[in-house]
Amino acid sequence: MQQVKAVVALAKGEPVTLQTINIPDPGPGEAVVKVQACGVCHTDVHYRDGGINDDFPFLLGHEAAGIVEAVGLGVTEIEPGDFVVLNWRAVCGNCRACGRGEPQYCFNTHNATQKMTLADGELAGTELTPALGIGAFAEKTLVAAGQCTKVDPRARPAAVGLLGCGVMAGLGAAINTGNVGRGKTVAVIGCGGVGMAAIAGSVLAGASKVIAVDIDDRKLERARTFGATHTVNSRQADPVAAIKEICGANGADGADVVIEAVGRPETYEQAFYARDLAGTVVLVGVPTPEMKVPDLPLIDVFGRGGSLKSSWYGDCLPSRDFPMLTDLYLQGRLDLDAFVSEEIGIGDVEAAFTKIHDGDVLRSVVIL
Ligand code: APR
Ligand code: ZN
Ligand code: ZN
Repeated sequence: MQQVKAVVALAKGEPVTLQTINIPDPGPGEAVVKVQACGVCHTDVHYRDGGINDDFPFLLGHEAAGIVEAVGLGVTEIEPGDFVVLNWRAVCGNCRACGRGEPQYCFNTHNATQKMTLADGELAGTELTPALGIGAFAEKTLVAAGQCTKVDPRARPAAVGLLGCGVMAGLGAAINTGNVGRGKTVAVIGCGGVGMAAIAGSVLAGASKVIAVDIDDRKLERARTFGATHTVNSRQADPVAAIKEICGANGADGADVVIEAVGRPETYEQAFYARDLAGTVVLVGVPTPEMKVPDLPLIDVFGRGGSLKSSWYGDCLPSRDFPMLTDLYLQGRLDLDAFVSEEIGIGDVEAAFTKIHDGDVLRSVVIL
């Protein structure tokens, strides 16, 4: 057992605080990781505000890279000193999905079994719930060994740590779920961190046209720097008509792949109608539980064909995707540094939360 500093959300809606926490020695199948960098994500704010569940106190932070400090009994895939990127859930290797060779859809994922706890004050001993099973706004954290993926140690932690969540969601929505490949036309609706990564992923995969759609011109300007070939401000022009026009040169009726990265029924409907016949819609924006599928004519679902997909965590398989994307980053083919807007200290997380909706910040990253 050891004690470290960490960012904890003690109660619903209250500003997060810096606490001392207890980290148990790793048990069987577990690892303690010395965190080097961890990105600040919307989901951390949702945890703080009680929007995920009420299992307070939460240990926040989940887009992280660091060095393995110690491993428990039976851990063979990583060892102390390894540079790793963390993922939300270790896959089981035994369930139906794993058996089908699709471990990215594993039905039986797990996190560390032991609990980290608060060390000081009246609440000393209270068990912490790590955000997305990680909890990496902390000098060290305890995770399942399968949540650690070794990547090339020459990579900058602040950049590759982002593969642990939002950037992977966007890259994977394009590359894994949307199957974007050479010559495809792609439209991305919503150019926040997730949409921007979907643009970067589409460019990387060789798309011939990448159309960025947003309501904020600053986002559209940034989308150009990530390789978008066209931009549409959907407050100023009908995005469906604009996408059909841009992709229509060879008779197409829309984009081959349309990626919805907002998570709203209106934008889903736009994506639905902006796809070419037999095209693909990928929903990666996360809707709220109250939202409903738009009231679309079933004949249009039937008549346009193609596929309507959702992308969960970019359908990523960390053991396959994290090392590959890190290598592409080191080769200069994927600019992960461009997602890092600022590097901040562990005491600045609450301030970073207020900047999340500020159009100028793509990601704040805590450096430890
Ligand atoms: N049409 C087009 N773009 C829109 C619209 C709209 N009607 N409404 C909002 N946007 C844009 C915003 O201007 C912003 O650029 O969508 C983008 C959303 O970006 P962020 O709020 O930064 O969210 P991001 O982190 O990219 O995540 C996107 O996926 O993970 C989920 O909860 C997350 O639902 C959100 C989505
Ligand atoms: Zn996240
Ligand atoms: Zn499984």
